[in-house]
Amino acid sequence: MRTLDSLGEVEGKRVLVRVDFNVPLLDGRVRDDARMRRALPTLMQLRERGAKLLLVSHFGRPKDQEPEFSLAPVAERTAKLLGTEVVLAEDLDDIPDEDVVMLENIRFQPGETKNDRELAKRLAALADYYVNDAFGTSHRAHASTEGVVALVEHSAVGLLFQSEVETIRMIMNEPERPFLAIMGGAKVTEKIGVIGRFLDLADTILIGGAMTTPFLRALGHSTGDSLCEDEGIEDARQALERDRYPDGKLILPEDLVIADRFGDDAEVQILDGHDIPDGWMQLDIGSRARTRYVAEIRKAQTIFWNGPIGAYEHKSFAAGSLAIAQAMAAHHGTTVVGGGDSGAAMREFGLADSVTHLSTGGGASLKLIEGSSLPGLDALTN
Ligand code: 3PG
Ligand code: MG
Repeated sequence: MRTLDSLGEVEGKRVLVRVDFNVPLLDGRVRDDARMRRALPTLMQLRERGAKLLLVSHFGRPKDQEPEFSLAPVAERTAKLLGTEVVLAEDLDDIPDEDVVMLENIRFQPGETKNDRELAKRLAALADYYVNDAFGTSHRAHASTEGVVALVEHSAVGLLFQSEVETIRMIMNEPERPFLAIMGGAKVTEKIGVIGRFLDLADTILIGGAMTTPFLRALGHSTGDSLCEDEGIEDARQALERDRYPDGKLILPEDLVIADRFGDDAEVQILDGHDIPDGWMQLDIGSRARTRYVAEIRKAQTIFWNGPIGAYEHKSFAAGSLAIAQAMAAHHGTTVVGGGDSGAAMREFGLADSVTHLSTGGGASLKLIEGSSLPGLDALTN
């Protein structure tokens, strides 16, 4: 991967920096700027080296040019974070000659998600150098993440992108052992490739969250009204078979928090075992599982966590995710949290800065672990 240093002299040059400033808004303001702050080292270094910046990001998934998908609030927050004026440019053909310009939502351009060559050419023409620090979007082959790269003379990954890739490669290629993976969230089908890699490479895999349900179903248990991705049952069955469950690496929660509905006013019970009665759903791991999972974390040297372990948005179902987050935060080994909902949980618990690495890319980090190609990275390799 070509790094920022390889660009050499950038003084007075315009650098197009692809960032992933796809951040949550609330009432027209940025609610969580964590992803933005993580790109600051790259932006500040380029500024210190005398470059002018043209920031390019997508925002949401607009169908047209709906005003709620404007990057205006993001440009405003960027100006605060950088301590300098940021001009929002709506017209690709009329970029003002200012120190820091942000292009309006690149997905307002119909060619972006089609990786259209004409759009890539227009982007390439706007700058002397191209830097990609949008790790969170690197699994998309879009005009601003992939197409443009071959059309610029000088290109590199930014510091955030580089650290994301190096961290994940490090834990997959040379983890200090024991190597523990914790897999939560809802969809087995989205994560079965990653679980497969961990069956090869990790020492222990803890399962939690809604994806526990397909595993229980694959073992022949009744799961009541629990959320269940039915297409995931066969994937779960194959993983269990390959692992010779219960004699292998996979560990399922031995008890569960079940509730009669999803919400803070639900009636809640602990189920010792795996057969969930009708009218009840599993929404968190139980206290014995929690103790076991925390013990596994303490025993490990390298820990990767992706996906919430329960419906942590509700207090009654947050204990599992919180226990895991706290145990990871207190750990002295290598602790890596995949982006997406587990990253949001870490921030919600105020523990985001207490792990070795918190990824800014949910989908992208999983793809990298699974061994799939990331078009945005491949374009910048060699
Ligand atoms: C994300 O938030 O997942 C990234 O910014 C990618 O966005 P996308 O899933 O809309 O491509
Ligand atoms: Mg996504």
